[in-house]
Amino acid sequence: MKRNIYITRRIPDYLLEPYQEKFNFRMWQDSQIPVPKDVFYEESLKADGILCLLTETIDYDFLNHASHLKIIANTAVGYDNVDVDAANELGITVTNTPDVLTETTADLAFALLMATARRIVESSKFIYDDKWSDWSPFQLAGTDIFNKTVGIVGMGRIGTAVARRAKGFNMKVLYHNRTRNEAAEEEVAATYVSFEHLLAESDFVISLVPLSEATENMFNRQVFEQMKESAIFINVSRGGVVDEADLYEVLKEEVIKAAGLDVFVDEPISGSHPFTKLNNAVLTPHIGSATKETREKMLTLCLDNLEATFFGEGPLTPVTK
Ligand code: DGY
Repeated sequence: MKRNIYITRRIPDYLLEPYQEKFNFRMWQDSQIPVPKDVFYEESLKADGILCLLTETIDYDFLNHASHLKIIANTAVGYDNVDVDAANELGITVTNTPDVLTETTADLAFALLMATARRIVESSKFIYDDKWSDWSPFQLAGTDIFNKTVGIVGMGRIGTAVARRAKGFNMKVLYHNRTRNEAAEEEVAATYVSFEHLLAESDFVISLVPLSEATENMFNRQVFEQMKESAIFINVSRGGVVDEADLYEVLKEEVIKAAGLDVFVDEPISGSHPFTKLNNAVLTPHIGSATKETREKMLTLCLDNLEATFFGEGPLTPVTK
């Protein structure tokens, strides 16, 4: 029997094609604008499973409303948009998309690190603004990357992939985690240190921690003040791990040197967000996994999870808390 799946954003037909025999797909037809809540609630009642994005709030209210659902396939490795405990209690499987986005997200973390250290965006704007009239020794001088120390907070798959890139730049890699990651220590010669040690020693601090009650606002003024004045902070995990008002202040006051940010507390942010007034911040609109290849793999993994749940041996990448 074919199962009914509701997809919360327009995705290309060629990705759905291989699954058409098993599923009836209904889909919100816009590829940019999220599905309105009332439509989502109504459609969920006709579905057996949902394929959603991180922009959908899958909270207790929604899950209780659609408690007949068998699976929520979330197109992200992070799942802070889903109340996993409530889903599990109601017997609804939640899946995410680990592994397939690891290298792409690590690329973006490193791209932000380089763009921030070498003032790439500011330098590009310099030409567009027709300010390049001469060459001078310290014009747009940034900071070196090679031989420096990177501190990775949250050493999982993506952290390890970032560390591999850092090794190519002969960087020293420090990391902090709730638990030691001995595999990473071996693979990338990363050194496990306390959070305080990492903050004090790192030239680049990269946040890769998932958002949870324990990590919310963990990067706050008190933490930024423990970093070097020359430190650059990179966040590609979730905006909520940062106290944004504090970060704005420490960047403005140059308590730390700069920040490269791909994620924000309330996304999307507008062009008038306080961060856009800073010239020591590089901002990208949550594009960590945004390559065509990786987005195809993420959506395909969601579809494979739906298939394995309804017709196979169970979900491939289930999330439990
Ligand atoms: C994730 O998968 O959690 C990313 O933030 C999406 O790019």
